[in-house]
Parts: sequence; structure tokens; C-alpha cells
Amino acid sequence: MADNDSAAAFWRMEGITKHYGGVTALENVDFRCEPGQIHAVLGENGAGKSTLIKIIAGVVQPDSGRMMLAGSDVRFSSPSDANRHGIVCIFQELSLLPDLTVADNICITDPPKRFGMIDNREQCRRARELLARIGCEDVHPMEPVKNLPLSRRQLVEIAKALGRKPKLLILDEATSALTAADVGKVYALLRKLRQDGLAILYISHRMHEIAELADVCSVFRNGRHIETFPKGLHGEDEVQRTTQKEEECDGGHRYHLTLRVTLTRESLESQAPSIYLRRVRRSGALGLHIQSSSRGHETRTLCPSSY
Ligand SMILES: Nc1ncnc2c1ncn2[C@@H]1O[C@H](COP(=O)(O)OP(=O)(O)O)[C@@H](O)[C@H]1O
Ligand SMILES: [Mg+2]
Repeated sequence: MADNDSAAAFWRMEGITKHYGGVTALENVDFRCEPGQIHAVLGENGAGKSTLIKIIAGVVQPDSGRMMLAGSDVRFSSPSDANRHGIVCIFQELSLLPDLTVADNICITDPPKRFGMIDNREQCRRARELLARIGCEDVHPMEPVKNLPLSRRQLVEIAKALGRKPKLLILDEATSALTAADVGKVYALLRKLRQDGLAILYISHRMHEIAELADVCSVFRNGRHIETFPKGLHGEDEVQRTTQKEEECDGGHRYHLTLRVTLTRESLESQAPSIYLRRVRRSGALGLHIQSSSRGHETRTLCPSSY
């Protein structure tokens, strides 16, 4: 890709590979995300999603590859190093210290000081403001975190992340413990943050969340980046299938399909054919359904008698 393209990307990774001992967690991954977008990262367990965001957030370092922020090469030695560059991640495992108060937790990395001591009043004010921003006024800043239910802890975690003034905010399954009403609050907040120009990476296995929130989706499978596509290009079922390692048909057989389509200049200029792949069952067989505006509808049967 052209150099000016890589300069334009807000966050860009090229050829990122990460091994854990003999396990390849990510293999030659290219990935980018932009401000003002909610970008969903999808994939089954073990697809490499958490490894991807741990690398972006400075928790682990890649074995090879390149990362660029606003066109400049970066490499983070720690999460606080990534924070300094405006990257903040809310991890699946909560990071709050249960014995400390909500305000202490929210301000833990950069507490306000007065005469060299932590300024509790200012810390409370800051915490209250951040809690209000996420519609969580019912949590008192002086409450010890251990007294809060899990759903409130998750919201405090989000308030803490916002206090670090992120430009790129990453949420790894951050709504998993929330009630439906709280999930609504988080959605509203994420939409507002998108409007404010943040880049948001959203990892979730809940397809309806993705359909509701995401502007762009990236699918990972077996440590590889399979596809990135804009919202609405694929249906929910179709996306779900893309994330799956293998598909299983009724008889318990497994199969892989690869569709390679070559379009000639003439066919593109003449009728802009649309071609898609669909599973069709005819008398127990699997079929390939090809629809092309230039050729009408056509169904070809695959693997007929053996199934
Ligand atoms: N610290 C680790 N040590 C060894 N293997 C790991 C470690 N972290 C992740 N893996 C492996 O790397 C692969 C990708 O894992 P992960 O990034 O957590 O995927 P996901 O978040 O999509 O479930 C998996 O096979 C997982 O078992
Ligand atoms: Mg994970």
C-alpha cells in the first residue's frame, strides 16, 4: 500500500506475529483502526483477539511486525507507555483493587495532589464527574469497591479508563457482567465517544451487540486476520459462520469451502455482477448458490452423493 495511506491511518499494524512457546497466537496480522469508529473484533475462543489487544495496549510485545500510531512507528514497553500515547484498554479481568475506594481506584495512576499529599476532595470530585459521564451516579466515590456488585465494578472500570483521556479505547468483553439497563448506558456512552472522535475497539462474542454498535468488523480465526468489512455487508448468521473454524453440516461431516471469483473488466463494466455464496440443501446435498446479475441464478451442487 502507498506510504501516504499508512500515514493516514490512525492505528496500523503490519505483519504482527506472536508465539507463546509452541503456540502461534497471531500470525502475520495486518490491522488498522480509525478515529470516530467503533470497530468490532470477532472470533471464537483462541482466535487471537486478546493477544491482539494486549499487543496494542503494551501488555505483551510482538515477536515481529510493525505498529504505527498517526504515521509514526511505536513499540510499547508497558501499559503505562501505551497510556501515554492515548491507548487505554479495559481488560476482561477487572483491574480494580477491592479494598480501595471507587475514587482511589479511578484516580490510581495519576491522583490529584496538594502539598505533596493525595487531594481527597479533588479525587472525589473527579470520580463523581467520571461516574456521571457513564450514568452511574448511584455509586458513591468513597464506597470501597469490594461492596459493589460486579456490574457496578465493570462500570467503575470504564470510568477509570475514561479518566485516562484515551484516543484509542479498547473494551475486551467489557459488558459481559452488566445488566441490560447498564449495557444500554455503555452503548450510549460509546456512541458519544465515537462522536467525540475516539477510536474504539470492541471485543465481544455477542453478535447482537456487534450488529447494534459496530461501524466496522474484523474477523480473526486461528491467529489470523481473516476479513475486515463495514457494518451491514454481511448478515449476523453469515458473520457468525465466518468466525467459526469449521462448519458442521447435518450428517456431522465437516467441510471447508473456498470461493474464488475472477471478474473481467468487461463483466464489471457491463453488468456489475453480484455473486454470493450460500448453503443450499437439496435432497440432503450441499449446494453452491451463485447469483449473478449478468447470468441469472444458478445453483451448483457440491459434494453430492458422498453426503
Ligand atoms: N499467556 C499465554 N501462554 C500460552 N498460550 C497463550 C497465552 N495467551 C494466549 N495463548 C494462546 O494463544 C491463542 C490465542 O489466544 P487469545 O489471544 O487469548 O484468543 P482469544 O482472546 O481470541 O480467545 C490460544 O491458542 C491461546 O491458548
Ligand atoms: Mg480473549
